[in-house]
Amino acid sequence: MAPINKSEWIWKDGSFIKWDDAQLHLLSTAIQFGTSLFEGIRCYDSPSGPQVFRLGDHLRRLVDSCRTYGLALPHDLGTLTKACVDAVKKNGLASCYLRPVVLLGYGGAGLEADGSPVETYVPCWSWGTYLGAGALEQGVHACVSSWQRAHPNTYPLMAKAAGQYLNSQLMKWEAKRNGFQEAIGLSPSGLVSEGTGMNIFVVWRGKCYTPALDGTLLPGITADSVITLANDIGIAIEPRQIPREMLYGADEIFFTGTAAEVTPVATVDRRVIGAGAAGPITRAIQQRYLDYAQGKLPDTHGWRTSAA
Ligand SMILES: Cc1ncc(COP(=O)(O)O)c(C=O)c1O
Repeated sequence: MAPINKSEWIWKDGSFIKWDDAQLHLLSTAIQFGTSLFEGIRCYDSPSGPQVFRLGDHLRRLVDSCRTYGLALPHDLGTLTKACVDAVKKNGLASCYLRPVVLLGYGGAGLEADGSPVETYVPCWSWGTYLGAGALEQGVHACVSSWQRAHPNTYPLMAKAAGQYLNSQLMKWEAKRNGFQEAIGLSPSGLVSEGTGMNIFVVWRGKCYTPALDGTLLPGITADSVITLANDIGIAIEPRQIPREMLYGADEIFFTGTAAEVTPVATVDRRVIGAGAAGPITRAIQQRYLDYAQGKLPDTHGWRTSAA
């Protein structure tokens, strides 16, 4: 994976600071305990200039993450929306990735974190295909992880909190060490949950399924877009329980995520899925998603925010 392609400015609590000045003390609560709520959002270059995809939905999820952890977010949705749009504009970027972060800074030493300030940042930078060159076309090689997703009511997995991503890192690093590009996590009950930073869809006997929300996975905004856009072109997607072995007999599998977009899965645990490349349902959904996000289709769902 390439290093971050840094830009120049980062929004911090109402003003812009230089990229290299976005520093934290070693003993900040976020660093000690992982208390950093964040989002990942893409902005696409469209025929009418840069457009941020599903900005309102991402910020709503960020607010919900803060509420779940009881962090008093000092900015309202209007301020955060403007911060994101302004960050894209100020950096002169067209297509880019935004990573709003609300974290607990330096102050308190203990877990109660009294005295640690809430700090909000909006960095953005240009970021290409998340799972590497060719992933969107040829698909990726995935494995079922030996690490399972957390049990509901241990970590609130509907929230995006940095500390929770230790589990994703264990999954990802194990997968990479074993020669795979991505890992699929199972829930504590042994059913398919999600990838390290993406949701999963399975086409089985001609029908498309995705794991139902069960407290072990993030309600992905890309997954929601995909379900809606698939419906627009006559493909129904049903949330349901997915046993591990459905993966091995699947016609097609794909991941969805803001970073991963719609990425086909070519193999799982070295078993070839379908024809070993993107199948027809995956291709139709991927095309519709990218065309919509890139502004080639009318914004019938009101998902694009101009940053021109
Ligand atoms: C654990 C996890 N699951 C799923 C997703 C996909 O979510 P979204 O489509 O909202 O980016 C992400 C990415 O944010 C994630 O980190």
